[in-house]
Amino acid sequence: MLVLRIFTALFLSLTVSLTAESSQHNNSSMNLLVIGTGYVGLVTGACFAEMGHHVICLDIDSDKIEKLKQGVIPIFEPGLEEIIKRNVQAGRLTFTTNYKESLTNSLACFIAVATPSDENGSCDIQYVLNAATEIAKHMNGYKLIVNKSTIPVGTGKLIQAHIQNILKERSVDYPFDMVSNPEFLKEGTAVSDCLNPDRIILGVENQTAASIMKEIYSSFTLTPDRIIMMDVPSAEMTKYAANAMLASRISFMNELAGLCEILGANINNVRIGIGADNRIGKQFLHPGIGFGGSCFPKDILALQAMAEAVNYDVPLLKAIETINVRQKKVLANKINSYFNNVKGKTIALFGLSFKPDTDDMREAPSLQIIAELLAKGAILRLYDPIAMEKALQLLPKNPHLIFCQSEYEAATGADAIAILTEWKQFRFLDFERIRSKMKGKAIFDGRNLYQPQELRTKGFEYFGIGVP
Ligand SMILES: NC(=O)c1ccc[n+]([C@@H]2O[C@H](COP(=O)([O-])OP(=O)(O)OC[C@H]3O[C@@H](n4cnc5c(N)ncnc54)[C@H](O)[C@@H]3O)[C@@H](O)[C@H]2O)c1
Repeated sequence: MLVLRIFTALFLSLTVSLTAESSQHNNSSMNLLVIGTGYVGLVTGACFAEMGHHVICLDIDSDKIEKLKQGVIPIFEPGLEEIIKRNVQAGRLTFTTNYKESLTNSLACFIAVATPSDENGSCDIQYVLNAATEIAKHMNGYKLIVNKSTIPVGTGKLIQAHIQNILKERSVDYPFDMVSNPEFLKEGTAVSDCLNPDRIILGVENQTAASIMKEIYSSFTLTPDRIIMMDVPSAEMTKYAANAMLASRISFMNELAGLCEILGANINNVRIGIGADNRIGKQFLHPGIGFGGSCFPKDILALQAMAEAVNYDVPLLKAIETINVRQKKVLANKINSYFNNVKGKTIALFGLSFKPDTDDMREAPSLQIIAELLAKGAILRLYDPIAMEKALQLLPKNPHLIFCQSEYEAATGADAIAILTEWKQFRFLDFERIRSKMKGKAIFDGRNLYQPQELRTKGFEYFGIGVP
């Protein structure tokens, strides 16, 4: 068996390096399996197909797969529908729930299933282990198993041992390699991020795995320095470090925004001032109503849990989270204190998704603001350009929650407006029309989209974040 493993690895590395040489002019297509067709798996699978690979996207959610087969795309992501349709038509992209069949001809299997928080905040890796179990149960020869899900440092080793145990139970000794290839795409720009990645992090253990991964990604990056190779634990940590760093910038700015309000400074000016420093840069310095989404909150908690498990204190990570919890309450508190008591007041909420250009509502700050205002007796008129359907599924049936078709309908009869998501279409609203439809005149700009003076001249009372 050892001989077989060495032979297969040598054979694969030879074929791949030969293809790699010829691929300088003509990249060769590979058969890839992507497990999990959520925000990451579906986008990754579609982008691999767009780059010429033959991709099977697999999910255990048979309803989702059936819809995908009929051309119904389960998530909103700019550009995704077009590339899925094009690649399905070209025969490069298919959908399945069948592990056995899809594994037969796939060289590399990408695991892109969810890794939510468990009740203690640790990363729940049960879906990753389930996917690994299915791979081990059905693999029929050498496989490269690539983990794209965000998983705690050391999980790669755990999955490796898990697969080896199952292969032992099956009395087979198929060789396989494990790679960590964390995903950095951003919802809202996922397709372009995936097609033009800033960097591709690869945690690899040997040359065979490195060569196959380089070949898979060769069509994505003509400049090979975008591929960064490292050991598996460092690759796993790089994903958490990136999210924690970005979240820390947001929490830092939110903390300063609160202080600016009290001291009479304007956080918008401070942001521009510090962003002009090349050492700091402009990105992720916008204060707001706290970060949400499916990644930052759970990844910060998971990193804390990793540290706790080895008795290492992480006060900075704790502070990122504490500040965010406080920030998510800021807008509802401002609204409540403006009215003294918001009971019976009608508030129009513009934007529900956790950020623009996505319908993702996971951990969206809007959910907490809605819950707090509803609990205080407010009547809420909701509008989001894309996330209304997801919001309808998530929010409770309540006569005080009114779903509207446009910003103007939402503003009708409202005592105040609150901006919760910075959708582009909210930037240039017809404020005269909005003002004429409202009962009151307060606007709570949770994303600092507007110039306070401009809105004041249009008859609004303006309240931003960190703006005196
Ligand atoms: N969403 C993002 O913006 C983003 C960005 C970078 C990294 N990540 C990470 O990528 C991973 C996936 O996130 P997501 O947002 O795409 O999740 P998601 O919840 O949108 O999708 C996960 C999919 O996996 C499927 N699934 C679960 N168990 C399965 C199994 N055993 N076999 C096959 N399919 C299975 C589910 O049915 C679901 O369709 C997570 O670890 C996340 O932290 C997410």
